[in-house]
Amino acid sequence: MKTKIIEIDGIAEAGEIIRAGGLVAFPTETVYGLGADAMNGAAVKRIFEAKGRPSDNPLIVHIADKAQIPLLAREISGDAEKLINAFMPGPFTIILKKQANIPNEVTAGLDTVGIRFPAEETAAAFIMAAGTPIAAPSANISGRPSPTRAEDVISDMDGRIEAVINGGSCGVGVESTIVDASGDAPVLLRPGGVSLEMIREIVPSAYADKNIMKTASDDERPRCPGMKYRHYAPKAQVVVVEGERGAVQDKIKELLSENTGKVTGVLTMYGNVYDSPVMICGGSSNKEYAKNLFAALRDFDKLGAEIIFAEFCEKDGYGAAVKNRLYKAAGYNIIHCEK
Ligand code: TXA
Ligand code: MG
Repeated sequence: MKTKIIEIDGIAEAGEIIRAGGLVAFPTETVYGLGADAMNGAAVKRIFEAKGRPSDNPLIVHIADKAQIPLLAREISGDAEKLINAFMPGPFTIILKKQANIPNEVTAGLDTVGIRFPAEETAAAFIMAAGTPIAAPSANISGRPSPTRAEDVISDMDGRIEAVINGGSCGVGVESTIVDASGDAPVLLRPGGVSLEMIREIVPSAYADKNIMKTASDDERPRCPGMKYRHYAPKAQVVVVEGERGAVQDKIKELLSENTGKVTGVLTMYGNVYDSPVMICGGSSNKEYAKNLFAALRDFDKLGAEIIFAEFCEKDGYGAAVKNRLYKAAGYNIIHCEK
């Protein structure tokens, strides 16, 4: 099977592929998703095969109209309704008790379902064209950085899926914020473009799961994405160097001089003051850093970097989302620099 690249004017065809039980990768404002008809268990099963994804890791169901929510979820609390009104459409996924008609393949046998309404117009047009909710994880091979460009989807998925819709680069660049609103107080399971502070302005009782930055033991069912499985990893080794600008730069210079035998890379936030064969600018704000992070990790691989030093400073609302992805990409290999 050759994977077809569909341009924006070919969305009707993408909808037909979904209705026929096929797989189509599509752009959203966060990352590219790998979609199938959420009501077709056999089609959804193919997503897991294409990605090499463990079957106990549930998928998010994408909608293009809030009227679809009660068809997928039940027992929607007042707090859940407030969050839906505040953050959907947008880079936000809400976990609710599921309706019985959702196939088990989507929810990995859980009693809950994750629902997301992307704000990106191409995504919404695609979901409308399919005429059904779309189950989709990120469109990468399991364990690789999420794709934020159509070419990244092709490099992982060529020959494994029917088509990809080319929508250029994703604006947010990291996956959606996930909030479990199926219990009493809403719980933040994954930080993203919607921060915990923004969520607390709407529902003050919301809190972050204590395991958000940790790995769960292997026998536990994953609650936060990435808790159990290695996520966002490029082929190169990643080391996060965080703290104040001058101290971070001095430390990275020292690390570069200790690693001259390797092809080194630096992902910068503070500007290029280094002598290293590979250099990529992440961006000076965390919002820019989020947009560029996954593409940068893939580009380091293409450029042959063997070890990457990533500058980091948690300085704005996107800081938690970037930190979560960066720490995981680094396998928690972090150097904290004091002034
Ligand atoms: O921005 C995004 O969220 C992108 C785009 C395509 O929408 N999707 C995405 O999916 O990044 P991904 O690969 O992270 O997979 C969905 C994640 C899983 O890791 C899973 O842990 C979590 O969502 N999830 C889905 N349903 C869940 C549920 N019922 N309970 C807890 N977590 C759930
Ligand atoms: Mg993913």
